[in-house]
Amino acid sequence: MSNDLELYERCSAEWWDADSPAFRSLHAIHEFRAPLLLEWLGEQSSRGRVLDIGCGGGYFVEEFARRGARVLGVDLSGASLAASRRHAAAVGTPPSDYARASALALPLRDACADGVLVCDLLEHLHHWKRAICEAARVVKPGGWVFATTLNRTLLGRVVAIWIGEGLGFVPRGTHDASMFIRPGELIEAAAGCGLALEQQTGERPKIFATLRRRAVVLAKSRMTGVTYSVLFRKR
Ligand SMILES: C[S@@+](CC[C@H](N)C(=O)[O-])C[C@H]1O[C@@H](n2cnc3c(N)ncnc32)[C@H](O)[C@@H]1O
Repeated sequence: MSNDLELYERCSAEWWDADSPAFRSLHAIHEFRAPLLLEWLGEQSSRGRVLDIGCGGGYFVEEFARRGARVLGVDLSGASLAASRRHAAAVGTPPSDYARASALALPLRDACADGVLVCDLLEHLHHWKRAICEAARVVKPGGWVFATTLNRTLLGRVVAIWIGEGLGFVPRGTHDASMFIRPGELIEAAAGCGLALEQQTGERPKIFATLRRRAVVLAKSRMTGVTYSVLFRKR
């Protein structure tokens, strides 16, 4: 099976276990992306309301809550939301709100968020353009949307599926390479719902660190052929 979304229910107790075969790569990826986004946002990261769509175990929920933002984590997986809430309480992160809902139909009013995260979610959705337009709908004019995903290239398939899943760095069946998204497609779809590109970077796996940790460790790259991160601004 590919694009196995049940994984997030089944393994929800392991979200915060940095050695979990299910989540160790997401941990390592977060270690790279959190500082990247915080650098891009500067002081905006500690202000206002932040929505994390497909928040999973809440890595970014906690990151923003600790900085003083009011955060709402949304996910289809109720077990993941429960894990996120439990972990935040256990480590004393200021509490956040959670809602079990689909990225394709957010139960939120227009322009209610100052910032929106859509991290490692779009490549799991058959109707990802609808999800990016939902993100655009709920963010205020002048607000930001941060998205990360995998590129639909041969290299993306080789790294994510053949190497990542083949060597067990990512659980087998996590991805369907035909659902990966080219940066141009994402930027065009975002522009169509009022989001202008502000920042973009490609990412490459650091080979030795990845082999050593048995988890995907990323570094910035000019090459977007595997994964990439983008920051949009709502017009
Ligand atoms: C790869 S995880 C990413 C988690 C988190 N964003 C991160 O970067 O660590 C994908 C998450 O998206 C959630 N998800 C999948 N389809 C969804 C949908 N249609 N609506 C909301 N969440 C969804 C899954 O349950 C899972 O928690």
